[in-house]
Order: sequence, then C-alpha cells, then structure tokens
Amino acid sequence: MQRQPLTLIEHITRTQASFPDATGDFTQLMEAIALACKLIAREVNKAGVGKLLGLAGRRNVQGEQVARLDEFANDTLVHTLSRTGTACALGSEELAVPILLPTSDSEGKYAVLFDPLDGSSNIDLAMPVGTIFGVYRRCSQPGRLGEPSDLLQPARALIAAGYAVYGSSTVFVYTTGEGVHGFTLDPSIGEFLLSHPDIRVPARGSILSINIANRSRWDEATMRAVDRWLDQKRALTSRYVGSLVADAHRALLRGGLFAYPADASHPAGKLRLLYEAGPMALLFEKAGGAASDGRQSILDKMPEDLHDRTPLILGGTADHKLWSEALAEGEDER
Ligand code: AHG
Ligand code: MN
Ligand code: MN
Repeated sequence: MQRQPLTLIEHITRTQASFPDATGDFTQLMEAIALACKLIAREVNKAGVGKLLGLAGRRNVQGEQVARLDEFANDTLVHTLSRTGTACALGSEELAVPILLPTSDSEGKYAVLFDPLDGSSNIDLAMPVGTIFGVYRRCSQPGRLGEPSDLLQPARALIAAGYAVYGSSTVFVYTTGEGVHGFTLDPSIGEFLLSHPDIRVPARGSILSINIANRSRWDEATMRAVDRWLDQKRALTSRYVGSLVADAHRALLRGGLFAYPADASHPAGKLRLLYEAGPMALLFEKAGGAASDGRQSILDKMPEDLHDRTPLILGGTADHKLWSEALAEGEDER
C-alpha cells in the first residue's frame, strides 16, 4: 500500500513532541496560518473569476496601491489567528499599526508578523505570489493586552518562520529551527503533504535574481558585487519574478543569489525587515544558506518600527560570500 506522506499538521505535532510542556497552542497557531494560506490559495487560483482582481482603491502605510487580494489575504489571516486565542499581537504589511489582542494568563503566548500577499503587482498576471509569516514568543507580561514590543524583536528570536508560494502548485515551507521542510497542497483533499523534507540550500548555484533596472541607482560597491558575480568563469543565468516568495523559493531550492540592495530610491532598501527579510533569513540560515543586508546578518538587525526596510541578500554560503567579499573590498580601501 502506498505510504501517505505526512501532513503539515502531523509534521508540526511531531516537532512539538520534543517540548514536554507543549500545550498545543503553537500547533493551533500554525493550523490557523495553514488554513489562511489554503483560503488565500483558493482565491488566488480563481482571482479572475472570483472578482478579487484589481485594486481596492486605497493606499497602505507604505503608500502602495492595495490590491483586493491584499485585503482579502490580510483579513483572512487576522480572522483565523485572532479566533485561536493563541496570539497577543499581530503585525501586517497591510496594517499601519499592530493589532493588540487581550489574553489570559495561559493564552496569547505568541506574536505573529505577516506579509499577507507578497508580489501583489503580479496578481493580475497569473504570476506566482505568496504569503510570508514569522512567529515570536511574546516578551511582554502575560495575561494582558499584547504590546508593540512583542513584534519588534530581531529575526534570531523567531520561534517559527515560513511562507506559502501560490505558483504552479501551492507549497508551504516552514521552520521551527530544526531544519526547513516543504509541503505541497493537494487541493482534492485540502491537505499540505510533505514534499520537500529537510531542504538544504546548495552552497553554489548558477542563478542571480535581481532587478537590473535599478542598476543606475546602485552604489559603487553594489555594482562591484554584481560584476564580480557576472565575471565568474562558469555557466550563469538570471531569473527575476518580482515576487520575493517566488524568487526566494527558487534560491532556497537551487542556490544562487537573490539580491534587493539599497539604491538611490530606496536608501534603506525596499523589502521590509520584520515580515519579509526576517522570516526568509531564518529559513535560509536553517537550510544551511546565508542572509544579510550585504554587511550584517539579517537575524541580528534590531527593528525600530513595524515597517522598517532593509537591503536583502539571500543565497548559498559560497554565492553569498562572493557578494559580501566584493562589497567589503571598498570598505578595506577607505
Ligand atoms: P509586496 O507585493 O508584498 O509589496 O512585495 C513586493 C516586493 C517583493 O515581493 C519583491 O521582491 C519586490 O517587491 C519587487 O520589487 P521591484 O518590483 O521593485 O523589483
Ligand atoms: Mn511583500
Ligand atoms: Mn504584500
């Protein structure tokens, strides 16, 4: 008889077996995130028919046009997470300020950050988009309303991180610190089934993923790093979807580099530290890869604001080293 792959919830339950005082709250929290991703996948996969294409007619705190699917994905995550009682604070790309939730002494142990729909500009083009999330243990006093400080923690403090990529298939990838594992949604049974056990980032890959249209706005060190990559005497190529989840997922599985450096239009970088770069950084590091802003590990960056931005370089260790060494050359000469 063909052995059925583990479901996501069975896998999460097994990770909790090593925590004797586990109450099941974390598993319930992850179930809520997985449910939200299934609901979002359903809408993403029929957006054209489901009247969820196009813009919602308002701008978010980032000043970006909000797509209807951004709103749907955000509302879905807020709803499924709030009703579990396991979270004290929720931070979202689509919400200017955090949602702080009332808790009891034994509940609301977690603070959750998410980019509900990443790659919004690709929605109407049927291109891959995704959802990114990170989970912290609360640091504020239990039994009270959550506090913004519960969300403003460095990515090294994340107890779980992951994403769902809504592409040719829907794949849910997560880590709780013990390896990185991928699950493919079988829509006929509505289950995420283990398809990528223990993902490891190849140290060296052949793909560079960067928005080359920003070239004229990069500083000299970034130009040097890109040229150093391109001057390698080996077969190279480039791919750029414009959805972080899609570009990062490819780099996680195939190696190579994803880079969104700072540029003259985004001096602090474009991507957001708490709900884009941080979760991706934990995944890459736990899969044996590397993640930095070019100079410092993303995991050690201390957020000051929910929507802080950062440059982001993700990749295999050898590819990442090539980039960061090229960047550092300029510093040595100063
Ligand atoms: P979001 O749709 O959540 O705002 O994220 C878009 C981000 C990220 O997904 C992607 O890597 C980057 O924007 C692409 O930016 P450019 O279009 O400037 O290359
Ligand atoms: Mn995003
Ligand atoms: Mn988004």
